[in-house]
Amino acid sequence: MAPTPQPIPDRMQRVELGDRSYDVVVGGTLLCRLGALARAALGNSASNAVIVADEGLPASLVRLAADSLSAERFTVSTHELKATEPNKNIESAERICIAMANARLERRDPVIALGGGIVGDLAGFAASIYRRGIPVIQCPTTLLSMVDAAVGGKTGANLSVTDSNGRCSLLKNLVGAFHQPSLVLADVDALSTLSDRQFRAGLAECLKHAMLALDVERTNEHSEDLLTFTLHSAPGILTRDRSLLATLVARNIAIKARVVASDERELSTVASGGRAILNLGHTFAHAIETLPALSPSNDPTQAPLHHGEAVALGLVAAAHAAAAMGLLPPADADQVRAAVEALGLPTQVANLPSNDALIARMRHDKKVVGGQIRLILPWKLGAVRSYFDPPNRVVNAGWDAIRA
Ligand code: GLY
Repeated sequence: MAPTPQPIPDRMQRVELGDRSYDVVVGGTLLCRLGALARAALGNSASNAVIVADEGLPASLVRLAADSLSAERFTVSTHELKATEPNKNIESAERICIAMANARLERRDPVIALGGGIVGDLAGFAASIYRRGIPVIQCPTTLLSMVDAAVGGKTGANLSVTDSNGRCSLLKNLVGAFHQPSLVLADVDALSTLSDRQFRAGLAECLKHAMLALDVERTNEHSEDLLTFTLHSAPGILTRDRSLLATLVARNIAIKARVVASDERELSTVASGGRAILNLGHTFAHAIETLPALSPSNDPTQAPLHHGEAVALGLVAAAHAAAAMGLLPPADADQVRAAVEALGLPTQVANLPSNDALIARMRHDKKVVGGQIRLILPWKLGAVRSYFDPPNRVVNAGWDAIRA
């Protein structure tokens, strides 16, 4: 018999969004308690549930979630999907809606998203359109989705678009909706199912939060600021110490929750705040993450980059762009590179296109307004601001910093 894991206290974070507020619970053995927590969040009128699960998850994890829901009188159906970027499309969302219709889901019945960001985004999107919106409970099983995608209500699918020259591009998350979950359960025990590469990819989003945490975490809330904690704890985090992981995930979710509560729909134009600051490193990352020739270790069998690996490179690029702009001392930019390396993530990549080609790709990012690139740049370690249309030499310095 497997040894019973040490109990980890549950940590609760409320995402304050008026009548769309919800709890995020971080802890261990949470999937065994999914049914009871779902019942408490949704009330007694919910009777059917569809679990949308990544087909790559261990069957035991899916069964745990299903049994827990059944024990709370939910009639459960499971819909599995292949969680890849090409498969993150409207047809997959439609198939989820059909599974919901077959399971006779009504307005108060939930869909449970069990998997990483692709599953969460697609299940959330399907929940936003089925019967004009039903509840979704996000049960992220990757570090990346726990600290980022599962919280905040962004849902969507990619769109494959062919232009007038016959060129086809996969446009990431071009369709979607804001649809806040009714509950988020971040069960750190699910993290033991990840490969090292998948796990480390999630640490890039943690480092991103650490690089903007000073203005978001409350003063004196913790004995160490998030960047210091993350780097001090890196050895234990990398060996997946459950208790350290619970602290890491809870602190990261608290940051995400506060930023989302301040600007749910990313409409704020305040340079020092708003949801846009969560795009730190992402304008660089989006320009390279769909390039098929890039790999984290210069090994073509590892191509393409994972989203988290592209974000890690983007953080190094943003730090060096900030140094070129005179915002950040060069030694601090080097410290960001060292932090990325300490977390086992890439700091340089071979086969990058020319800077001009990369800048052209940045101008096509879906977040661009009026063709202007908006970069989120650190002005000290732990604090960022946004800058519209930075000079090309600044952006070039970012790309040069990660070019192998
Ligand atoms: N991943 C950035 C956001 O949720 O706004």
